[in-house]
Order: sequence, then structure tokens, then C-alpha cells
Amino acid sequence: MRHIMKPVVRWAVLIGTLLLAAAGMMAARQGSDATKSVADQKAQTTNASQYVGADTCKGCHEEAGKSIDASPHARILTSKKIRGEMAHGCESCHGPGAAHVEGGGDKSKIFTFKGVKPEEITRRCLSCHESNSEQREFMRSTHNENGVTCTSCHSVHHSTLEYQLVKKQTPLCFSCHAEQKSDFQKPFHHRVEEGLIKCGDCHNPHGTLAARQLRSTPDQDAVCFKCHSDKRGPFVFEHVPVKVEGCTACHFPHGSTNPRMLTTARTNSLCLQCHAATAAIGHTQNTRLQQCIACHSNIHGSNLSPVFFK
Ligand code: HEC
Ligand code: HEC
Ligand code: HEC
Ligand code: HEC
Ligand code: HEC
Ligand code: HEC
Ligand code: HEC
Ligand code: HEC
Ligand code: HEC
Ligand code: HEC
Repeated sequence: MRHIMKPVVRWAVLIGTLLLAAAGMMAARQGSDATKSVADQKAQTTNASQYVGADTCKGCHEEAGKSIDASPHARILTSKKIRGEMAHGCESCHGPGAAHVEGGGDKSKIFTFKGVKPEEITRRCLSCHESNSEQREFMRSTHNENGVTCTSCHSVHHSTLEYQLVKKQTPLCFSCHAEQKSDFQKPFHHRVEEGLIKCGDCHNPHGTLAARQLRSTPDQDAVCFKCHSDKRGPFVFEHVPVKVEGCTACHFPHGSTNPRMLTTARTNSLCLQCHAATAAIGHTQNTRLQQCIACHSNIHGSNLSPVFFK
């Protein structure tokens, strides 16, 4: 199939393409650079004759057809609700295919997702998915800024996993984040590798409005309160840093060599970072007083004791 084109046909196709490209460039010059690809897409969409429809594609690409039919994207081949630029089946992602078919399967005349800038892939996927609140912030994510794109994590034809991921979530994240992997192997850690919770419980890999791609929440610690609701309060007597600086003032979120994932090995040295003056009120560092939380046990806030005894 690969070499069926006669040289003369190849030239005709090539010249045709050059003419089309020239026309495209003239059209694009009317818009700014930023709107170029959108303008191109619109121009292509209006020219319905450039689309051949999924059945034609499937005629030559049986495997690819089957994998789409068995996936959530089957909806874009079948749903009557999907209209406009999205209603082109395979060609919603691969672009119009008439020239590719006329060329007997000329790879250079169809969008193959290979050898292109990551952002170009991202824009294609987002043309449908940016209406989804989970994916909406992708363009401003750290992942996008670092050349990570949708197909770094998803494979729409070849995945049999949940959400069409290329690997299960935790190994997927660790494949690029070795440093965090070692955090989660420290003696005290959130049991992510054990499957109890996921990176995605705290982060949205598609980006958010918050720093560190942390799930956007109305208040800074809500990402932790989702599971640790007993720490939310409000308490009659709040411990100021819990509310002001947040949980990470005292805990590492991933894992730590210290019990309770605290940022210091000994609790008293944690407290004394901010309460150095306690010595002045008789809290000398004798052994009895070193275990601050032996007395100040409700350290996240209390409804009964202004010094968090209970
Ligand atoms: C949701 C977007 C999307 C849709 C819909 C889609 N494809 Fe693809 N296709 C891709 C991506 C992305 C790749 C690159 C490989 C990958 O990431 O899996 C690809 C790769 C391919 C390949 C290269 C070989 C391979 O399997 O990797 C062929 C052939 C192909 N698609 C044909 C089709 C046909 C035929 C249809 C319709 C039945 C279709 N595609 C629908 C996104 C799509
Ligand atoms: C007349 C048969 C035919 C039809 C119809 C056809 N293709 Fe192809 N397609 C081919 C051939 C042949 C190749 C080249 C395969 C190769 O070189 O491995 C190809 C290559 C591709 C590739 C690149 C595969 C790769 O390995 O990079 C994609 C993507 C693709 N086709 C998608 C489509 C889509 C989408 C449609 C429908 C719009 C379509 N094809 C219709 C024959 C066809
Ligand atoms: C760094 C890896 C990564 C990248 C990059 C990525 N995703 Fe995802 N995606 C995931 C993970 C992990 C999940 C599963 C989320 C969960 O478990 O809550 C997911 C889930 C999804 C879902 C289904 C779940 C939902 O709530 O919407 C869609 C749709 C999706 N991604 C589309 C995209 C698109 C489109 C892009 C590119 C703009 C993209 N993804 C980029 C990792 C990624
Ligand atoms: C033409 C519109 C369109 C395009 C373009 C598109 N998608 Fe989708 N995608 C959909 C629809 C529709 C669904 C099914 C949503 C549903 O059923 O709720 C979907 C579902 C998904 C899911 C969720 C799978 C699951 O198990 O829930 C992922 C992941 C995904 N798409 C990734 C991608 C990636 C990656 C690309 C680019 C290569 C892409 N999509 C391009 C329309 C599109
Ligand atoms: C293909 C490689 C790749 C994969 C897979 C990947 N990441 Fe990333 N991620 C990066 C790069 C590159 C950066 C930017 C450099 C850095 O901070 O390490 C980044 C940054 C981040 C950041 C820091 C954001 C910031 O603003 O500082 C978080 C959080 C993150 N990734 C979470 C995840 C999660 C969760 C997953 C799995 C769903 C994942 N990543 C999968 C490559 C990847
Ligand atoms: C319990 C919630 C939680 C879970 C689960 C979680 N993270 Fe984080 N992660 C955070 C918080 C909070 C920060 C911000 C830390 C800071 O800014 O001090 C962060 C920061 C990061 C960063 C930025 C660099 C760094 O280490 O500070 C990366 C990358 C990252 N996480 C990746 C991951 C990956 C990969 C997973 C899953 C294996 C994961 N995270 C699971 C809460 C979590
Ligand atoms: C998706 C649920 C979930 C989220 C979100 C979550 N945690 Fe946890 N956390 C747990 C579970 C479950 C445990 C019990 C750990 C175990 O037994 O492995 C735990 C344990 C802890 C512990 C005690 C560890 C120990 O050694 O006893 C601390 C401290 C902690 N989490 C802090 C946080 C902080 C800070 C955040 C926000 C950055 C957070 N958690 C977000 C589920 C969660
Ligand atoms: C001022 C420092 C500090 C801040 C801020 C803080 N913690 Fe703690 N946390 C501690 C100390 C100290 C312990 C150990 C208590 C013990 O061993 O009895 C602890 C223990 C825990 C534990 C395990 C024991 C238990 O009480 O369930 C969890 C879970 C926890 N913290 C979650 C959080 C969350 C969620 C936040 C943010 C809302 C937070 N912490 C903010 C100091 C702090
Ligand atoms: C990140 C800084 C920080 C850390 C760490 C910290 N605290 Fe506090 N704590 C404060 C601030 C700020 C107040 C409010 C003090 C004020 O209003 O004068 C406070 C208030 C208190 C109070 C209430 C009495 C008062 O002065 O209002 C007690 C008791 C207390 N802390 C004990 C502890 C103990 C025990 C630890 C260690 C487990 C600890 N704190 C860790 C910052 C911190
Ligand atoms: C044996 C019990 C005990 C231990 C252990 C202890 N405290 Fe206290 N703490 C007290 C008592 C009693 C008060 C005074 C309560 C009052 O005024 O009602 C107090 C008061 C405080 C206050 C509030 C002071 C003020 O200005 O009102 C802070 C802050 C404090 N302790 C911090 C610490 C720190 C930090 C440690 C560990 C180094 C610690 N405590 C260990 C019993 C203890």
C-alpha cells in the first residue's frame, strides 16, 4: 500500500498541496499569529469536501477504527449531539483527510501527532476538552510550560486503562517525578504507592489556579480537609498558624523521616521555631516540658482550652 503512487501522481498531489498551502498562507495573513490555527481550522471546517468521514478511514485503518469504537471517543463518531467542528469523527483529531486518501495514504497530508510541538497537540485536544472544568487551566499549567502534553499521559488508541492513561496513575507520575517517589518511600508518608490515595487527590495534573497544580479550593487547606475534616474547625480557640500558614507550616505533604510527617524530628523544636519566648514564662527545657503536645494535645485547635489542653 505504501508505495502505490506513481511518480506523476505524486507530483500532481505535491503541486496541489503547494497551491492549497499558498492559499492558506494568504488567508492566515489576514488574522494575527495567535488566531492563525483557529482561522485555519475554521477555513477547513467550512470546506466540508475536505472531510471523508470515519467509515472511509476505517476502510484502510481497521485496528485504529476498532480501538476508537471501543473507547469513550466512540461518542464523537456516533453522537448526534456533537456538532460543528467536532463532528468529524476521526478527522476531529486528525484533521481533514481527503488529500490523504487521494494520495493513497500519504502520511504527509494528515495530522499524525508525530514530530509536532507539544502545544499543537494540546490545542487539538483542548478544542473539545477545554469546556471541561478539569482540563480548563491546562494552558497555564506547569506541565504545559514544560512541554508536557495530553499524549504524554493519555493514549486514545492504545490504552486499556482507566481514563486512557498510558500507565497507571502512580507509576505514570513517578516516571517523571523521581524525587517525589523517594518522598513517598520515607518511613512516614501518605500511602500513595500502596494505593490508598492518589496524586490526583491533591493535584490536578491538568493545572489549576493554585500554585503547584494543587486542586483549586476556596481556602488554602481545603485540599487536606477533604480527608482530614476533623482539622477544619472552626474552633473557639484556633491555633493561628493552622489557619494562617496552613498545614505545610508543620507537615510535609508527601512523606517525611519524622513521625506524623512533621517537618522536624522532635516536636518541641518545631514548637520552639515560633515559641522561643516560652522559656521566659517558665517553660524551661527540662525533660518534663519537652514533650509540648503531652499537655498541649489539641494542637490543631480547641473548643475548650485556649492553650489546647483538650
Ligand atoms: C481523540 C482524538 C483521536 C481520534 C478521534 C482518532 N485518533 Fe487516531 N490518533 C490519535 C493520536 C493522539 C494518535 C497518536 C498515537 C497515540 O497517541 O495513541 C493517533 C494515531 C493514529 C494512527 C497511527 C497508528 C496508531 O495506531 O498509532 C492511525 C492510523 C489513526 N490514528 C487512525 C485513526 C482513525 C482511523 C480514527 C477514526 C476511527 C482515529 N484515528 C480517531 C488521536 C485520535
Ligand atoms: C486508501 C486507504 C486509506 C484511507 C481511506 C485512509 N488512510 Fe490513513 N493511511 C493509509 C496508508 C497506506 C498510510 C501509511 C501507512 C504507513 O506508512 O505505515 C496511512 C497513514 C495514516 C496515518 C499515519 C500513521 C503513522 O504511522 O504515522 C494516520 C494518522 C492516518 N493514516 C489516518 C487516517 C485517517 C484519519 C483517515 C480518514 C480521514 C485515513 N487515514 C484514511 C491509507 C489510508
Ligand atoms: C501529567 C499527566 C497528564 C496530562 C499531561 C494530561 N492528563 Fe488527562 N488525566 C491524567 C490523569 C492522572 C487523569 C485521571 C484523573 C483522576 O484520577 O482524577 C486524567 C483524566 C483525564 C480525563 C477524564 C477525567 C476528567 O475528570 O475529566 C480527561 C477527559 C483528560 N484527562 C483529558 C486530558 C487532556 C485533553 C489533556 C491535554 C490538554 C490531558 N488530559 C493531559 C493525567 C494527565
Ligand atoms: C472532537 C472532540 C474531541 C477531541 C478533539 C478530543 N476528545 Fe477526548 N473526549 C471527547 C468526548 C466526547 C469524550 C467522552 C466524554 C464522555 O463520555 O463524558 C472524550 C473523553 C476523553 C477522555 C476520558 C476517557 C475516560 O475514560 O473517561 C480522555 C482521557 C480524552 N478524551 C483525551 C483526549 C485526548 C488526549 C485528546 C487529543 C489527542 C482528545 N481527547 C481529543 C471528545 C474529544
Ligand atoms: C512526561 C513527564 C511528566 C509526567 C508523566 C508527569 N509530570 Fe508532573 N511535571 C513534569 C515536569 C517537566 C514538571 C516541571 C518541572 C518540575 O517541577 O519537576 C512537572 C511539574 C509538576 C508539578 C509541580 C507544579 C509546580 O507548579 O511546581 C506537579 C505538582 C506535578 N508535576 C504533578 C504531576 C502528577 C500528579 C503527575 C501524574 C498524574 C505528573 N506530574 C506526571 C513532567 C511530568
Ligand atoms: C496529600 C496531598 C498530596 C498528595 C497525595 C501528593 N501531593 Fe504533591 N504536593 C502537595 C503539596 C501540598 C505540595 C506543595 C508543597 C509546598 O509548596 O511546600 C506538593 C508539591 C508537589 C510538587 C512540587 C515540588 C515539591 O516536591 O514540592 C510535585 C512535583 C508534586 N507535589 C508531585 C506529586 C506526585 C507525583 C504525587 C503522587 C505520587 C503527589 N505530588 C501527591 C500535596 C500532595
Ligand atoms: C485523599 C485523602 C487525603 C488527603 C487529601 C490528605 N490526607 Fe493526610 N492522610 C490520609 C490518610 C488515609 C491518612 C492515614 C495514613 C495511613 O494510615 O497510611 C493520612 C495521614 C496523615 C497524617 C498523619 C501521618 C502519620 O504518620 O500518622 C498527616 C500529618 C496528614 N495526613 C497530613 C495531611 C496534609 C497536610 C494534607 C494536605 C496537604 C493531607 N494530609 C491530605 C488521607 C488524606
Ligand atoms: C503548628 C503546627 C501544625 C500545623 C500547622 C498542623 N499540624 Fe497537624 N500535627 C501537628 C503535630 C505537632 C502533630 C502530632 C500530634 C501528636 O502526635 O499527637 C500533628 C498531627 C497531625 C495528624 C495525625 C494525628 C491526628 O491528630 O490526626 C494529622 C492527620 C494532621 N496533623 C493533619 C494536619 C492538617 C490537615 C493540618 C492543616 C489543616 C495540620 N495538621 C496542621 C502540628 C501541626
Ligand atoms: C509556624 C509557627 C508556629 C508553630 C510551629 C507553633 N505555633 Fe503555637 N502559635 C503560633 C502563633 C502565631 C500563635 C498565636 C500567638 C499570639 O497570638 O500571640 C500560637 C499560639 C499558641 C498557643 C496559644 C497560646 C497563645 O499564646 O495564644 C499555644 C498553647 C501554642 N501556640 C502551642 C504550640 C505548640 C505546643 C506548638 C508545637 C506543637 C506550636 N504552638 C507550634 C505559632 C506557631
Ligand atoms: C507539663 C505540661 C506542659 C508542657 C509539657 C508544656 N506546656 Fe506550655 N503551658 C502549660 C501551662 C500550664 C500553660 C499555662 C496555661 C494557662 O495560662 O492557662 C502553658 C502555656 C503555654 C503557652 C502560652 C503562653 C502564654 O503566653 O499564655 C505556650 C505558647 C506554650 N505553653 C508552649 C509550649 C511549648 C512550645 C512547649 C514545649 C516546648 C510546652 N508549652 C510544653 C503546660 C505545659
